[in-house]
Amino acid sequence: MTTHTPLLSVRDLRVEVGERTVLESISLDIRPGELVVLMGSNGSGKSTLGLTLAGHPRYRVSAGSARFHGQDLLALKPEERARAGLFVSLQSPPDIPGVKNGLFLRSALNAIRESRGESQLDAFDFLKDARALAGELGLDAKLLSRPVNEGFSGGERKRNELLQLALLKPRLALLDEIDSGMDVDGVRAVVKQVQAMRAQGTAFVVVSHYLQLIESLTPDTVLRLDQGRIAETGTLALARDIARTGFVRQSEALEV
Ligand SMILES: Nc1ncnc2c1ncn2[C@@H]1O[C@H](COP(=O)(O)OP(=O)(O)OP(=O)(O)O)[C@@H](O)[C@H]1O
Ligand SMILES: [Mg+2]
Repeated sequence: MTTHTPLLSVRDLRVEVGERTVLESISLDIRPGELVVLMGSNGSGKSTLGLTLAGHPRYRVSAGSARFHGQDLLALKPEERARAGLFVSLQSPPDIPGVKNGLFLRSALNAIRESRGESQLDAFDFLKDARALAGELGLDAKLLSRPVNEGFSGGERKRNELLQLALLKPRLALLDEIDSGMDVDGVRAVVKQVQAMRAQGTAFVVVSHYLQLIESLTPDTVLRLDQGRIAETGTLALARDIARTGFVRQSEALEV
């Protein structure tokens, strides 16, 4: 695959949730190493797009297509999508009581290593790597021996998502407000991790409401989602414009 071939190609995607059509028609292409920032007002459908691509059963695709790394993404089960190299970090990572974080991460990593034809990591080797990475990300390694997210602070949950990202090394990562609730060091860790992985060819879709993070990520493209469509495509200038004027754009405000 050349860097000119899209890694993810979404065409006219329509998504229904319950009785509602949340996404009307979404089209986007992302190439290896590209970083796309997805903006949009609360409730505009950003998380819906991520959860749909991840294969969440609540989100029904009623039209359109999505190809990922040469495969029909929508025909794959959620775990097959992950094995193909798709990673979606959740806006609100759930607790998984009774499942140790370290075991959860090792199982996920070994499933992905298996699909890449790599050897399985035993508990010892995994912990060595996970502790080192946790240290780099400013996450207390003790969180590896607790149940997933149970009692984690808001920022710890988000740093734990970042640890998953760093361990799993996906082809494409969609980060849904990974900066929300993180302290300044956490946000710096996000930028460092994302830029390092991007340099190795990982593509990113980053959902964020915060200009400071968006600027630090030096995106290739900034998209604004509205009424279930990509309403605007631009660069950092678009993000700055939104930060200045809000989501009620000048032209729309005048129509009212
Ligand atoms: N299970 C559901 N049942 C009913 N409506 C839903 C469901 N899931 C999402 N929605 C609706 O779909 C719309 C889009 O939600 P989504 O979470 O994708 O927005 P968002 O752009 O991520 O917003 P935010 O910036 O607040 O995170 C919202 O109006 C939401 O209420
Ligand atoms: Mg959201």
